[in-house]
Amino acid sequence: MIVLLGIGLLLAVVAFLVWWLIFETEGVYLGRGMVIWLYDVYASRYDGIKEFDDYADFVLVSQPIMYRIQPHDNPIILDVATGTGRVPLIMTRNPDFFGHIVGVDLSKKMLDIAREKITDQHFEDFITLRVENGQELPFNDASFDVVTCLEALEFMPDPESVLGEMIRVLRPSGILLTTIRIDTRWMPNRTWNEETMRQKLLSYGMQAIEFEVWQADYTKVWAVKSGESEFLGVRMIDDILK
Ligand SMILES: C[S@@+](CC[C@H](N)C(=O)[O-])C[C@H]1O[C@@H](n2cnc3c(N)ncnc32)[C@H](O)[C@@H]1O
Repeated sequence: MIVLLGIGLLLAVVAFLVWWLIFETEGVYLGRGMVIWLYDVYASRYDGIKEFDDYADFVLVSQPIMYRIQPHDNPIILDVATGTGRVPLIMTRNPDFFGHIVGVDLSKKMLDIAREKITDQHFEDFITLRVENGQELPFNDASFDVVTCLEALEFMPDPESVLGEMIRVLRPSGILLTTIRIDTRWMPNRTWNEETMRQKLLSYGMQAIEFEVWQADYTKVWAVKSGESEFLGVRMIDDILK
């Protein structure tokens, strides 16, 4: 009887660890290779699981970006950890957007799904997708008017260096939009609260930091890179590659 109880307990612990390490925290405690492998495996189911609300994304993400870059309408945007192309697609579906958006992600399968959705020639002209590591972006300093990274920093082993890279490639006075996870119960040491995010952004020379309630799990974080520079607008990708 005691042996059976012991086996039952052991199985319960193993089941909990598998659930926590693989499903709840998406492999982040097991390293970047595991995170990317899991996204490759789940890529075809990602959109179904997330059930994005296109209208909410339009109102709460793409319109606020367009509002903040006024009077311009053709920014060059980088979306780090673009996944299945959520941000590129919501930007290019915005009738006021005439810019170009570069989406990077380390999961080839997530990008394959994004490519399947970008069938319209119109979109192809507006979007570039590349397999790249957010921690080592292959772009020159100050190459983008806007840099975004939604729902991803907490799944990266070194989010601080990714944040630093995003800010490096953002032009002075350019706009950063990222997120912090609200429900942090199951992700100890992986998530930042508002104060930690504010301090990290300030240490990278960001200003005008704003936190905006967004979804049940995430708060939006806006910030502006200090300094002044000219609006860049659409440009050839070869011109900004290192
Ligand atoms: C939760 S998804 C978010 C995708 C997208 N931003 C969205 O809002 O739907 C997290 C993404 O981060 C990507 N990712 C994780 N670590 C990365 C890294 N170091 N560089 C680039 N992408 C990474 C994963 O492949 C995955 O597509």
